Amino acid sequence: MKVAKRKRKRKQPDPFIDWFRSSSPYIHAHRGKTVVISFGGEAVADDSFAELVHDIALLHGLGIRLVLVHGARPQVEERLRLRKVEMQYINGLRVTDDAALSCVKEAAGTVRVEIEALLSMGLANSPMAGAKIRVASGNFVTAQPIGVRDGTDYGHTGQVRRVDAEAIRQVLAAGAIALIPPLGYSPTGEVFNLGAADVASAIAIGLGADKLITLIECKGLRDSRNRMLTNVIPQEVEALVKRRKQLPEDFLQQLHSAVKACRSGVERTHLLDRHIDGVLLKELFTRDGVGTMLTAEPYEEIRTARIDDVGGILELLGPLEESGVLVRRSRELLETEIERFSVVELDGAVIGCAALYSYPKEGIAELACVAVHPDYRNGKRGDTLLQHMENRARSESIGQLFVLTTQTAHWFRERGFTALPVKSLPIKWQELYNYKRGSKVFVKTL
Ligand SMILES: CC(C)(COP(=O)(O)OP(=O)(O)OC[C@H]1O[C@@H](n2cnc3c(N)ncnc32)[C@H](O)[C@@H]1OP(=O)(O)O)[C@@H](O)C(=O)NCCC(=O)NCCS
Repeated sequence: MKVAKRKRKRKQPDPFIDWFRSSSPYIHAHRGKTVVISFGGEAVADDSFAELVHDIALLHGLGIRLVLVHGARPQVEERLRLRKVEMQYINGLRVTDDAALSCVKEAAGTVRVEIEALLSMGLANSPMAGAKIRVASGNFVTAQPIGVRDGTDYGHTGQVRRVDAEAIRQVLAAGAIALIPPLGYSPTGEVFNLGAADVASAIAIGLGADKLITLIECKGLRDSRNRMLTNVIPQEVEALVKRRKQLPEDFLQQLHSAVKACRSGVERTHLLDRHIDGVLLKELFTRDGVGTMLTAEPYEEIRTARIDDVGGILELLGPLEESGVLVRRSRELLETEIERFSVVELDGAVIGCAALYSYPKEGIAELACVAVHPDYRNGKRGDTLLQHMENRARSESIGQLFVLTTQTAHWFRERGFTALPVKSLPIKWQELYNYKRGSKVFVKTL
């Protein structure tokens, strides 16, 4: 018996199905991840804010654990205008007096209520139908005053001191969105006016968030030909900030906070122009995204120094020379002795160095200029650098390393160095010894 062949219909491409299927890897990837999103009061005041909230609700519905940090600057400024008071800015920092603080409290409260109201919507036939989102705010951020700088008292302007990450985690674990204002509280019961970018980055760091997303007011990070920079590392952002003097103060703060988050373990930080419709969805669910993504340092290595490291080494050693920890070396001397140095390089920046001055006849070498940048200490880089220098010495058939130090004796002693009188050192070297400096000599047999 013949079975009638079923006629297969030719498949018509369906953009909706294609699009939905293509976004599924991202949906899986983001589910259960913790994302901190910050936006300014400008976004809240904009007519399109409801759409942004709908997108946030969608992210929540897809299982992303969300922390929202909002600003309130235009709302504060409007209140100040009504009271005929002006917010003062000195060196880019705002001064919050009593009148300004009361406006900040009012504005932050109002903005919070507006966001909560939008997140509570659930009208049938709207994007929020059936969303049933719980929102929780609270005293998650402890702050301290910025204090008096260059004679100016910044009043109630503060900076983040601590984040109660555990409390925020509980809120997220209960399935709610955490909504956090640009305010912090002190153990003395005071309220401080904080920058939303500072709060968001501190929270992302404290929570160990997977992402920090900052919605910005400007067009974002662009190169000299005005093309969007889609992927950057902190080092590049810093170089760009140095080159461009004209970036808006708010954006500078946001960049600074993004770099800090990145350096403190937040793997991905996104800077997105909030004027782009659906910017969060486009960034998170398409391959190329629409904004700038900052990723943490890709690699770190220890290697022999090259001539183009001289600038970085000078920058690293300068403060230590000024405080008398290390002996001053001129650029010329460094340039001629550069091959004696090894450097720790992170993203193209020199964050550690050491030098080896060998006396091959005596089989001994001086280990000098051992330094790790203060921001990167206590991460075993000193140890790794020492090991690297010991290996370098061994490869030159050096049997003993000696070091001169005024303030770091214990660090070397704990790593196998023992004290030695100056006269046991190579004669050539003794002639150079600066008795006035009174450095102690330590030696280690390899
Ligand atoms: C000494 C130095 C290179 C260590 O770098 P590092 O990357 O922090 O080193 P490690 O992470 O391997 O070691 C950190 C440990 O050394 C200790 N340490 C740092 N400086 C010390 C000092 N001056 N004396 C004694 N211990 C010291 C830290 O307390 C820490 O101890 P812990 O692990 O018990 O908490 C760095 O502190 C530095 O650059 N100091 C200034 C320059 C200097 O003194 N150089 C020596 C010139 S001779």
